[in-house]
Amino acid sequence: MAAAMAFLAVVCAAAMAAVSGAEEVYEFGSGASFIFGDSLVDAGNNNYIPSLSKANMTPNGIDFAASGGMPTGRFTNGRTIADIIGEMLGQTDYSPPFLAPNTTGGALLNGVNYASGGAGILNGTGRIFVNRIGMDLQVDYFNITRKQLDDLLGKAKAKEFLKKKAIFSITVGSNDFLNNYLMPVLSAGTLNRPIIYIMLDRWPETD
Ligand SMILES: *[C@@H]1O[C@H](CO)[C@@H](O)[C@H](O)[C@H]1NC(C)=O
Ligand SMILES: *[C@@H]1O[C@H](CO)[C@@H](O)[C@H](O)[C@H]1NC(C)=O
Ligand SMILES: *[C@@H]1O[C@H](CO)[C@@H](O)[C@H](O)[C@H]1NC(C)=O
Repeated sequence: MAAAMAFLAVVCAAAMAAVSGAEEVYEFGSGASFIFGDSLVDAGNNNYIPSLSKANMTPNGIDFAASGGMPTGRFTNGRTIADIIGEMLGQTDYSPPFLAPNTTGGALLNGVNYASGGAGILNGTGRIFVNRIGMDLQVDYFNITRKQLDDLLGKAKAKEFLKKKAIFSITVGSNDFLNNYLMPVLSAGTLNRPIIYIMLDRWPETD
């Protein structure tokens, strides 16, 4: 009997250690930001793909304090609007680019950035850059993150995290005009309806 009680106590202690350990490592920050879009909010994804749409060179980044003025792949001298919103949310770090190899584990709890310079709502947008991550693929990538969060936190906690701590933003559409519709050589023959309807159709209403 005494042996059984001792065994039970050990099991309880182990369970408590596991729980408090998990809380220590994966405490939710003040907020997580999941960012979809184009070069306006790309934080470096295009550094990892063979694309003509690149920003990982000076003078980009010269006013970006977090990198000490070095380029990061952001298409700007400073912060993107997504970075600024992240700061207002109280993020401990900016949402890292999905394609960065170290965007795993606890780093996901700041949210993740899927944006890609040259991307559009339409799949063909940005073809002239050879490669970019269009909205289709960005959403597929989010599905991968979703699975990683389930593995990291457990299904229930991952859901709670997304509902209570996360915001989602989409900054996209200008390339569908600039690097698709307004390039008649590339697209005129393929558009049989006003482009705005074609763009809207990419997000059919769901019920
Ligand atoms: C990931 O690596 C980059 C570049 O090496 C570094 O700047 C960044 O801080 C790292 N992020 C995390 C979450 O460790
Ligand atoms: C988008 O384009 C890629 C590459 O051409 C293709 O594999 C994919 O099936 C397309 N997706 C849609 C929804 O058309
Ligand atoms: C998302 O991933 C799950 C597995 O984690 C899979 O069952 C589902 O089909 C995926 N959804 C999409 C839209 O890719």
